[in-house]
Amino acid sequence: MLKLVVLISGGGSNLRALLEAASDADYPARVIAIGADRDADGFEHAEAFGIPTFSVPFTSFPDRESWGDELLATIEQWGADLVVLSGFMRLLPIRVVEALTPHLINTHPAYLPEFPGAHGVRDALAAGVSQTGASVIVVDGGVDSGPILSQERIPVLPGDTESTLHDRIKVVERRLLVQSVLDIANGTLDLTEKTPA
Ligand code: GRF
Repeated sequence: MLKLVVLISGGGSNLRALLEAASDADYPARVIAIGADRDADGFEHAEAFGIPTFSVPFTSFPDRESWGDELLATIEQWGADLVVLSGFMRLLPIRVVEALTPHLINTHPAYLPEFPGAHGVRDALAAGVSQTGASVIVVDGGVDSGPILSQERIPVLPGDTESTLHDRIKVVERRLLVQSVLDIANGTLDLTEKTPA
């Protein structure tokens, strides 16, 4: 059984999808702890599924490095096989990434390497593209630059706003994340063999 620590910052719909998948006895992964960098709304899903939580508030530390050290120490206490960034909206310090990668994955609301960064949906709309996408990647030292595990195209529709487009992307993101974790747990997706695209 693959043990997951999931990190969130917001509503946690991707987390919820993982929790629902993992409530099936046949799904080969379990969320053992849920962490956040703030008082995230998504903690309600942890409560609903009876999963322990931890919070390492970014604003309680003098700098990113000391915050990252505390976050890493807390994550490591759980002995997870895989750490999932699921709408986690902070860049991790490089030493945290190096300690965890390649057992550190992230979901992204664009078809990487197109539109990396915190505003992938907004940037795709601003660029006027006819399609964007969703991706699941291994986290490396760059911004959304790691090996791509899974991705899918999603059309941009006439009249789309950032919100309507993001909502459609997130439906796909959730499916890709649940499938990627399944494939990692089953050994059909080998993180250690993945090299940057
Ligand atoms: C997702 O689109 C994620 O890729 C992005 O923020 C969103 C988080 O959604 N970085 P949720 O908190 O899982 O609902």
